[in-house]
Amino acid sequence: MKLDLVFSELWTCLANGTLAGHQPFKVMQAATTGLDGAPSVRSVVLRRVSEAENLITFHTDLRSEKIAELRRQSRIALAGVDATRNLQIRVSGEVNIVDDGPVRREAWDTSRLQSLIVYRTLLAPGTPIDEPRDAFDDPQMPHDAEAGFENFCVVEVRPDALEWLDLSAVEGHERARFVREGGRWISGWIAP
Ligand SMILES: Cc1cc2nc3c(=O)[nH]c(=O)nc-3n(C[C@H](O)[C@H](O)[C@H](O)COP(=O)(O)O)c2cc1C
Repeated sequence: MKLDLVFSELWTCLANGTLAGHQPFKVMQAATTGLDGAPSVRSVVLRRVSEAENLITFHTDLRSEKIAELRRQSRIALAGVDATRNLQIRVSGEVNIVDDGPVRREAWDTSRLQSLIVYRTLLAPGTPIDEPRDAFDDPQMPHDAEAGFENFCVVEVRPDALEWLDLSAVEGHERARFVREGGRWISGWIAP
């Protein structure tokens, strides 16, 4: 495949991750620098992907460890795999934590109720508890649509490096790297 096709295919794979149903890049691993300086990694669901805006977003809880980490060090790395295609995508970039304003409001209003329940817990993510059910409020208690909104945020990732590794290519493994400089992407093949 040509480099420009690889680049657009990479963005298509990421964008497909935001579609309904099973998608290989729906969940990616997001790595941050832990507060103790050690790597810290966890899964996140891609919510919005726009090549035109150079933007990838996920949603999280403002009380979570990753937010404290990103407030201290705003670099993030994402990695995902399509195991059936033997394809890996890596992203590195800078984050912007959206904890106010219309983007956050719209993300909340358009999210499914099921995915907002986690923001309604009284205990911050990571709080030690005796047993799993202790983390949840009484499920019989009616909730208004705003419950948990104060804990909700959108994390915007602006990629400045992208990487594609295709282990299924018939001609041999193909690895491409795209680096953003001055608002433009510089592309090149690298040894796998
Ligand atoms: C399939 C899957 C998808 C997940 N998606 C998200 C997500 O989109 N946002 C999020 O904050 N946590 C998500 N989580 C939970 C995180 O992986 C993590 O456990 C949690 O956010 C606490 O991470 P932290 O303590 O590093 O902040 C997901 C977990 C799984 C298993």
